[in-house]
Parts: sequence; C-alpha cells; structure tokens
Amino acid sequence: MKYLITSALPYANGPIHFGHIAGVYLPADIFTRHKKLQGVRAMHISGSDEHGVAIMQNAQKAGKSYQEYVNEWHRTHKELFDRYDIKFDFFGQTSAEYHKEETLKWFNDLLGKGLIEKKAEQQLQCQSCKNMLPDRFVEGECYVCHYPEARGDECPDCGTWIDPLKLLKPVCKFCGSKDVKAVDSFQWYLMLSKMHGQFQEWFESRKPLWRKNVVPFVESLTKDNLVDRAITRDLDWGIDVPLPEAKGKKIYVWFDAPIGYVSNTREFLKGTGEDYVKDWWKADDVTIVNFIGKDNIIFHAIIFPVMCLGTNFVKPVTQLPANQYVNLEGKQFSKSKGWYVDAEDAIARFGSDALRFYLTSLIPETSDSSFTWKSLELKINSELANNIGNFVNRAMKFSASKFPEGVPAAKFDGFFTDHALSVETFIKEYHELLDSYQIKRGQEHLMALGSKVNQFITERAPWTEFKTDPEKALETIAISTAYVFVIGTFFAPYLPQLSGSILAYFGRTAESETVKKVYQGDLNELRKYFGSTFKLQVDPQGLVPKIDPKLIEELDAQLKEKATT
Ligand code: 2FM
Ligand code: ZN
Repeated sequence: MKYLITSALPYANGPIHFGHIAGVYLPADIFTRHKKLQGVRAMHISGSDEHGVAIMQNAQKAGKSYQEYVNEWHRTHKELFDRYDIKFDFFGQTSAEYHKEETLKWFNDLLGKGLIEKKAEQQLQCQSCKNMLPDRFVEGECYVCHYPEARGDECPDCGTWIDPLKLLKPVCKFCGSKDVKAVDSFQWYLMLSKMHGQFQEWFESRKPLWRKNVVPFVESLTKDNLVDRAITRDLDWGIDVPLPEAKGKKIYVWFDAPIGYVSNTREFLKGTGEDYVKDWWKADDVTIVNFIGKDNIIFHAIIFPVMCLGTNFVKPVTQLPANQYVNLEGKQFSKSKGWYVDAEDAIARFGSDALRFYLTSLIPETSDSSFTWKSLELKINSELANNIGNFVNRAMKFSASKFPEGVPAAKFDGFFTDHALSVETFIKEYHELLDSYQIKRGQEHLMALGSKVNQFITERAPWTEFKTDPEKALETIAISTAYVFVIGTFFAPYLPQLSGSILAYFGRTAESETVKKVYQGDLNELRKYFGSTFKLQVDPQGLVPKIDPKLIEELDAQLKEKATT
C-alpha cells in the first residue's frame, strides 16, 4: 500500500491563516509523517494555485506583474510552512511550464472525447472599458439576499453561486462603470452531464468511506443530474485555451488547479526512475487522499473526479478528509476587517510545538472550531507543559540524579501489555485513530497516556520509594523512562521538535530504527532497548516553556483594538 497525499493548493494571493493551517496543511502533514513512520511509502504533494481573477485584481492593485506577484506569495507561503514544520515532498506552482503541459493534455483529451464542448452564452461586458467581466470582475446586488456587494461568482453574504447575468445593478470592477451589458459570447464547457451515470457508479463506491459532512452534500448536488460548467474565461492571465478560435481565452482556474496535484507529482518524480502515473496515480495499491476545507468539496468530490474518470489518466480520489472551518472567537477570520491573527508573528513568538499542539486541538474534523488567545495559553500551560512537559522532566531529572552512571535494567516484562498503561493497547488505538483520519483525537489519545503516566509516577512517588523500597524505586524509574521514550516516539508526527528533543535523551531521532520499530508496534524492540543499562545522552532540561499570561492579555487587547466590526 502506498499513500499519495495532497493538500489543497493555496492561492498565491495573501497570507495563510490559522484556518488553512488547522483545516488542511497541519492534518495532512501529521498524516504523512504518520504513514512514513509506519514504514509505508507516502508522499505529500501541494503547491501554489496561481491563476484566477482574484489574483489578477490584487496583482494589479499591488502594481506588480502577475508572475512577480504569485512568485512572491509562493515564496512567502513556503517559508511559513517551514516555520510550522509542515513538510511537503513537493510544493510547486501552477504558473510553471510543466503544469501547463499536463493541463493541456487533460483539456485536449476531454475535448477529443466530446467531454468539452463549445457553447454560445451571454456574458457581461463593460461598455465603457470594453472588458469582458467574468467572475469577480463584476459586482452588484445579490438577487437572493440583496447584499449590495455580491460578486459575479458568489455572494459572500448568503453563499449563493451567482449567475452574473442576474446580478442587480452590476458594476465593472476594472473601471467602476455602471454601463454593463449582456453580450453574445462563447466559452468551452466541461460536459459533466454526459458523465452522470459513470460518476454515480463511482460515488457509490466512495460513500461508505467518506465523512458524514461530505456524502449527503455531494448526493444532494448530483442525485438528478450534473450541470455543465464553463471552463474557459476571457482573461489575460492563465493557461491559453489551445484552439485558434479561442484567442484571448484562458482555461478557468478551477479546471487547472486540481491537475496541479498530478503535475506536481510528475515534476517531483522527474528523473527518479518512477513514473508518476504507473507507479503512483494509477498504481494498484495506491490510496489517494485529498485534504481540503469544506468550501472545496464540490471540486474535489464531483468535478475533478469526473475529469479523472473522463480522461482515465489517473484514479479519482480515494479518501476526502474535508474539514469544517476554524473561526476566530466564533467569527470568520477577515483580514480586511482586522479580525485576524498573523500566523507569522504567532510562530515567531510561540514556536512550532506550541502552535502545532494548539492548532491540532482545533482541527475542525466534525464541526467548526474557534481560535482564542486565552485557550492557546490554557492548552499550552495546563496541558502540554503540565502534563507532558512535567512528566518528561520529572522522569529524566530523577533518573539523571539518582543514576548518574545509567539506569540499570529493571524487570517489568508484563507492564507493556498487561497493565492499565498497556503500550500495546495504546499503539493499537492510536493507529486506528490516525489511520481513520481522526488526527485531533490521536493527539488527545496521546495526552490521555501522558495523564496516566503522570498519575503513575505521582502514585509510586519514587522519591520516597527510594528510602523504603529501592528496588521498587528502580522499577518505577525504569518504567517511567520507557514511557518517556514512548511519548517521544508517538509525538513525532505531531510535534517534531519536542519529539526530537525527547528522543535526543536516548541518542535517537524519528528516523532511527528503534523509534520506527516501536512506532510500528514492535514491543520487543522496546524491551530490548530497556533491557540493559540506560544512560541519558543529554542533560535533562525543561522542554515545554510556559506562555506568559500577560502577553496573552496584550495580544487579545491588540486583536480587539484592530477589529473594525
Ligand atoms: O480554495 C482554495 O484555496 C483553492 N486555491 C484550492 C485549490 S485546491 C486544488 F484543487 F488545487
Ligand atoms: Zn469598465
């Protein structure tokens, strides 16, 4: 079995916020690390989504060329992901030549099969500057909820998928003119309707696997028919439609973006001897997992799968862990309204362990969740520091001070399997959770183990045991030390830095054979390791710094000052 893991290509069009990190990139990163530690072949593919009208508008506002603008955001996003220890095997760009080649291959194939067709349609045109006005290039009053600033593609207030021709009081976003008229035009359409039967058959096979938030939604949109969609636009940024009669037209961003998963894999594997299709996208034993936010479900559950089935170039997605939203104190993040937390500033202040830990606790797997500064403080100070930090610190300090020459091997054979603290049961449940994409619960499970071992060391109180029963005290320390190793090992996908510091006590890293074997459930490896004298390789030190409550108060006050609503 091999895992091809993708995370939604972020638009190269503005900062990444906590919603994106907790909803998509962090769970994808944790899942990939988990699979790799299990010894399974896995790759995590993503990249910047660099086309579309929103990018054009912002590049124009910034006075930059489109390419320069997307390159800058591409670089900025990569740096941010690095700081959060979010690793990709490949993080590409959809403005690259390799992506264009792959996209044209798909377009031409679907065109040849009659699954892309030219259709006449009416389109809005500005009579003043003469620009065609697709998607966000026109704004007006929503005909459903009467919100005054609905865009040509969507009403941000009621969420309606807007038919631009029906917009009330349309305004051109290029020049501000209200002289906007419908004119005859033509575009190429993806003929989803022709693929309805094939889609339904495929979707039936996915229903049992997918999350409850995805299945009924997709079903309601696909039960009776599939609606054809225009996949070309009159724009000057994007991939040229490869037909002489389509001069000036570009492929719609949502047609080429998901092909980015495939083109980026192809670029990653170039020159490695592996074939991106045969060995990965169409391999018999491949599981394809798309991590996305709920706003991307239609494209990943319906449109791209239809493109995959239609071309038969790659297998359609196997598993679609679509997350809900992360809000900020219950309201949507909004940069323009100042209701926003800067992810770069936060990582510089608190570091990767604290933010990954907190954001994992916010992964909105079943319902929306909410970031607050106060809960960050509580999560770190009362849980990560008090539970894990405290246990590791107590066990390591004690073992170093009582056994400066090393902790002699103690007999505690049955402990890993028979005791309430059974490592065997812990590993089985932990793997079940992660293998079923319950990433947030995996971390909770690890914290529950932390609480139990803390309780164990407190109850046994080796500091007094030493006076009354030194042999028992030795056993307590040996067991505690082994659990420090277990905790360090199983935090590897979640908190690679903390895990690295813990494993360094044992002279190991997450790549070490012992660690991998234990991760994979080989308890003999653990017994073997602790079956001889164990000596700390690094002096113990506090590993989880607490967060200053005063700083939290300041940040909270700043957030509320900046907010305009
Ligand atoms: O919603 C978004 O941020 C899109 N850029 C996601 C694209 S996902 C994929 F299809 F590339
Ligand atoms: Zn105009």
